[in-house]
Formats: sequence, C-alpha cells, structure tokens
Amino acid sequence: MERVAVYPGSFDPITNGHLDIARRARRLFDRVILTVADNSSKAHTFSTAERVRLAKACVAGLSGVEVDTFDGLLVDYLRRKDSRVIIRGVRAVSDMEYEFQMASMNRAVFPEVETVFLMPDERYTYLSSTMIKEVARLGAAVPDYLPAPALEALRRRYARRARR
Ligand code: PNS
Repeated sequence: MERVAVYPGSFDPITNGHLDIARRARRLFDRVILTVADNSSKAHTFSTAERVRLAKACVAGLSGVEVDTFDGLLVDYLRRKDSRVIIRGVRAVSDMEYEFQMASMNRAVFPEVETVFLMPDERYTYLSSTMIKEVARLGAAVPDYLPAPALEALRRRYARRARR
C-alpha cells in the first residue's frame, strides 16, 4: 500500500527549510502532500493562491512531492487523502510546546493519526518565515534561506509597499 504523508503549514512563503523537510519526508514516504492552510484566522502576507503558486514552483523538481491546499480541520483533510501521517519540521526545543499541543489535539480528534517530527538541516535551524519577512521588509535580501520564486515574490511585495 502506498504510504502517504501530509505536510501542512502556512508556507507564507515557502522557505528552503520547508523544502528540506519535504525532501526528508519523501525519503520515508511514497508520496508527500505539502498542503497550504487556507486558514482565515491567521493574517498572511501572501494569499492562499500565491502561497500555493510559490510552493508549486519550488517543488517542481521533487518527485513524489505535490502541493495542495486545505481548509477546515487538518485531520478531515487527512481522512480525505487516506493518510494517517502528519509531517512537521521542528527547529528547536522551543518549537515543541506548540507542536505537542497541535499533535495532541490532532490525535484527540483522530486517534489513528501520527505526527512525525523531522529536524531540518542545521543551516535552517534558526529560520522562520516571520523573521525573513521582517528582514525583507526592511530592505535586506536573504537568498540563502529562500528559493528563487519566494525571494522574488517578497522583493516585489515590499518594493510595491515602499512606493506607496
Ligand atoms: O505553518 P504553521 O502556521 O505552523 O501551520 C499550522 C497549521 C496550518 C498546520 C495548523 O494551524 C492547522 O492544522 N490548521 C488547520 C485547523 C486544524 O486542524 N486545527 C487543529 C490542530 S491545532
């Protein structure tokens, strides 16, 4: 049977850290669905369509990794995809508090689900989309951390704001 893992997140925008986790997950599972949360309770920099577009452009070379989007409960999405595995990247111990809460909640509503935590390459340990955006907004580039399409999208986003 095909082993399908779901890698959910905001991906606002997708970073090299996310891609590193997707690659690692793909080594463990036949199919990895990187799914962008269309979660209206969070304020995102990029629209869902744009986050999906960027993720698609970046995983194009990764066989067995596909991009999708979901709204509502993550576990309902897993059921629809016939998956029992959630992939999450953890960078530091400080991530674990939030991750444990989420994994426990997901397990409470769908007991068969397992959350698999993967550690990214050390280069990405301190990488966060929020900080990347802060730095980009203030005019610095972070090419080591962002794939080209995301870097370009951020550049355009903040150039437009600066002109206003
Ligand atoms: O990249 P993020 O923002 O840490 O991802 C969080 C995400 C999207 C995985 C989480 O908020 C989520 O699963 N949202 C869907 C709603 C849901 O199922 N909530 C219950 C688990 S807390």
